[in-house]
Formats: sequence, C-alpha cells, structure tokens
Amino acid sequence: MCGIVGHTGRRDIIAALVEGLEKLEYRGYDSAGIALAESGGLKTVRSVGRISRLREKLAGIVTDARCGIGHTRWATHGKPTEVNCHPHLSFGRRFAVVHNGIIENCRELRALCEDRGISPVSDTDSELIAHLLEFNYEGDPLRAVRKTADMLTGSFAVAALLADFPDEIYALRRTSPLLIGVGRGYTCLASDGCALEADCVYSLGDGQYARLTPSGAEFYSRGRRVSPRKIPPFDAAHCVRGGYEHFMLKEICEQPEAAARTVEALSGRRLRGRLLMIGCGSSYHAALSALPLAERATGKAACATTAGEFLCSEKTDGRGRTAVLISQSGETADTVAAAEEAARRGYSALAVANVPRSSLTRVCRRSVLTHAGPEISVATTKGFTSQAAALSAMLAPPPLAEEVRRLPFAIERALNCDGDASAAARLLKADKAAFFIGRKSDLGTALEGALKLREITYIPAFGLSAGELKHGSIALIEEGTPVVLVHTDPQLKDKSLLTAATVRARGGRVIAVTPDDEVAAAADLALRIPAVHPLLSPAVAVVPLQLLAYRAAVALGRDVDKPRNLAKSVTVE
Ligand code: F6R
Repeated sequence: MCGIVGHTGRRDIIAALVEGLEKLEYRGYDSAGIALAESGGLKTVRSVGRISRLREKLAGIVTDARCGIGHTRWATHGKPTEVNCHPHLSFGRRFAVVHNGIIENCRELRALCEDRGISPVSDTDSELIAHLLEFNYEGDPLRAVRKTADMLTGSFAVAALLADFPDEIYALRRTSPLLIGVGRGYTCLASDGCALEADCVYSLGDGQYARLTPSGAEFYSRGRRVSPRKIPPFDAAHCVRGGYEHFMLKEICEQPEAAARTVEALSGRRLRGRLLMIGCGSSYHAALSALPLAERATGKAACATTAGEFLCSEKTDGRGRTAVLISQSGETADTVAAAEEAARRGYSALAVANVPRSSLTRVCRRSVLTHAGPEISVATTKGFTSQAAALSAMLAPPPLAEEVRRLPFAIERALNCDGDASAAARLLKADKAAFFIGRKSDLGTALEGALKLREITYIPAFGLSAGELKHGSIALIEEGTPVVLVHTDPQLKDKSLLTAATVRARGGRVIAVTPDDEVAAAADLALRIPAVHPLLSPAVAVVPLQLLAYRAAVALGRDVDKPRNLAKSVTVE
C-alpha cells in the first residue's frame, strides 16, 4: 500500500527520494510524487503510474533543496490521478503533506475546510491534513502538528514540509508505522525499514510526533519531549534480489531457512484449548490448512475464518477460547480490527505475525513471531510457509515434534520440482480456468495455490474442496482444463484416485502434487514432494504450487513482484 519517504540534509535530495520510493515499489502503488523545500517555496512533482515515469518528469530539474518528502499512493479515496497523488499542498502552499492510512472523519474535515472558504482540489482525505496544518499554524510548527493530530480520527502516518523552515520535516503517526533514521549529516524517515539507510533507526511511537533536522530528530508526545525507541537496523540483504530474476523466486528459495528459524524460535510454545484462527488471504489459508492439526492437538473442534467474516459475524461469547490472529505484515486492517473485536467478545487474542512491534502485536494480549524476514514480493511465499511452520510447531503433539524439526529439509527437497513446475505451467492457458483441489490439510494448500496463480498470472483459478467439485464446478471441466490435485494423506488415497479419474474422464488434465506413487501415476503430470506427516504437509505441498504460479507468470510476461491492483499490506478495511 502507500509508502512514505523523507530526507533532510541531502545534497542529492531528488536521487535520495526517488531511490527510497523505488525500495517501496514492492508494496504496490498506482502513482508517486515528491515535494522539495526550495528556498523559493515548496515544489511538488507527481505522476501517475510507475516510479520510472516520475523519474522521467524529474530529469533535468535543478533544485537548491536539501530537504524533501515522497510518496507512493495506492488509491482509496479517489482515482489514481495526478491531482489525487501525494504530496498535497495546503491552500497557502505553506505545507506539503504525504499520508498513509485512512482519516475516518474526512467528511467533517472537508466540510470544515469548505466553511472556512477552502475547496479541496483532490478527492483525498490526505489533502485535508495539509489544510488543517495551515489553519493551525501560528508560527509554531510543532503546535500546529499537535493540534492537527488531535483533529484527526483514524489511522495515519504523515510527513510534512513547511516552507518557513525549509530544512525540517514534521512527522506524526497513529497506528500506521513510521520509522526515523539518523545518518551522518542527514536525517530520514520511511514507512518501511526497507527504504531507510541510516546509522541509527528509531520507531516513532503511536501518537507521537517528531521534528527532523539534518542533525537529528526530536520526538514528542502530548507537548513533551520524549526519548526515542531505537530499533535494530533493517537487514538490507532482504531488499536486493541478489542474482534472482524476481523477489518472489528469491523468497521461494529462502523458505527452508525461514521455516527453520520459525520452528527453532517456537518449539516449546503450545497452543491449547478451543481455537478460532483468523487471517486474510494467504494468512487465512495458513489457518485453514492448520485446522485438522489444531483439532488433533487439542481434541476440540476448532474453527478458521477470514477477518472480514469474523467482523460481521454474530457477537457470540468468546470467553474461555483463544483467537489466533495470523498476519505476515501485522498491519492488515481487517485482521487488526478482528483482534480488537475478539478481545471485546472475550477471546484471549494471540497474534502470529512476521513483523515485530506491528499494529497486530500491539493490540493482541500475547504474540509470537514467525521469522520469515522481510518479504518484498507482493505475493506471499515465505510468509505463508513460516506461518504454516509456526502453527505446526505450536500445535504438533509430542510424537510429531521431530517431524516438525525436519520440515525445513522437506521444504528444501520440494524446491527440486521447479523443472516439473515449468512443464506444468505449460498446461495452463491465460484465458482458461484452472482448478486447485484438496481435502483436509490439503484444502488450505489448494486454496493458496489457486490464489497464487490468480494474483500473479490473472488466470481465473478456483480453489475448492476436492469433494465439492462434483457439486457444480465440474460443469467447467472440458478438454484440457487443468486441475491441480493436492494429495498428501494416505487415508484419503481412494478418494483422490477417484477424483483424478473423474476429472480425466471429462478431458481435464490432472496435475498431482503428492508424495504418493499411485496418485502420481493417476495424473497427467506429477509434482513430487517428500512425504511428511499429512497434518504437517501444507508448508511442503505449497512449494510446487508457488513455483507453478511463478513459472506461469514469467511465461506470460506478467509483472511478477508487483501484480496489478495489489498492495503488499492492505491497511484499509
Ligand atoms: C497473497 C497475499 C495476501 C495476504 C493478505 C494478508 O499472496 O499476500 O492475500 O496474505 O493480504 O496479509 P497479511 O498476512 O500481511 O495480513
């Protein structure tokens, strides 16, 4: 989703801002812009589309600015047009503002602006912040920042320039993350550690605001100076592709280490009692794929649901139950809201997140971390496997503990099917539907395989329970329709063989993801995976599906790491 960068004290200000924005590209965006604090006033340059278009617009611009802010926008309020693009200027051009998040009282604020004779030029909620800052400014920038923050409801991370102080940046945040870095002779900020290069990195606390100057940053809360909270520097190795053609492929290959770190960190942690597992997208699939293991481990009925559905479900009593909130980013708005709602309903809320000190870990009473490391590709891969590994580590009964420790090796062996995945990708056609089916633990894996294919190739891919195929969807199966059958549970072999035969009898092409010889032989093509306990299989069986989607997307010439319309973390409900 939207991304923020800012620098003060840089001679190469345009290059510093654009390079920062490029590091945020992976989050998904549809327009980008920068603002410069020049001696003659504030100047903005904005463009719709890729950062490369912004670069073209900036070519040849000479500036005396040493300070500026930049933004990548993922449209929510208003279309992706240049006028809606950040940075936004205030009515008197005194302030330039970039904003991540959603201002919930934007209607009231728009009316307030109009009452004072200011007609906002964009459809955005963000522009209103710039006008409020100028309304509230009487010579003391920090006072204006504080007064403005008090007028906003919702989530925000904001960086602002003020023409009167051209080497300062003002930052404020509530809920949405914002980091501040101090380097030699310059100070910078970013919404994501990936875009920060600095000797010391601090997290701007929730509800805090800050003033950045070339020599450092001052942090404030409710009018008082506060000590900043230092955080470990970001591992820049995660931000470079390091010889891989795409981040997605790099991250697929990093899965054995990610799973190993996660299993190591979580061994000894146990999930008990009646569990409700909640997530969105792939994180929901991780929850669903762990459901049979959860029921085996606890001996009690468990449930998996999407955060969006949980939020609109009946407000039943959750006392005595644990809600497990799963999220790679820890910033997904639906999941964070579901965590708050779960607490209100009496559940004990546990976060399983990949990003420490994220919004989700803050709102849940307890949290554990997956250790996938930063994920850059929009389509999650190592995020999913480390969630599956984490749930396996926390749920597997003692006799399976050794198998859990061996999962990273099985994941590594599953990577060997890349060649077969390329062959399977050739069975897929851009405009023809594909099906992904499985039962029990394989259902979540199948849904995840379908989502991977859909999101990065745009092929209409349906994930469903293998048992459901005959209840309607089979109508779509015709000569050549690819059906990916995930089969890992020996007890379900007869059912899988029957499903494969049923599909092939109608001309469908079965691609089996399985360790089983017979099921492999019953398919048109097999992606062989090592045998692990079926309840632990999702972290392994998903690997060929990721490779299949990846190879198909490359063959179709898709923008693998930045699929259309998608954002890395969906911070709006
Ligand atoms: C799919 C994908 C999304 C996310 C979903 C939840 O590849 O990445 O479906 O899984 O938006 O995100 P997190 O896990 O960050 O809450």
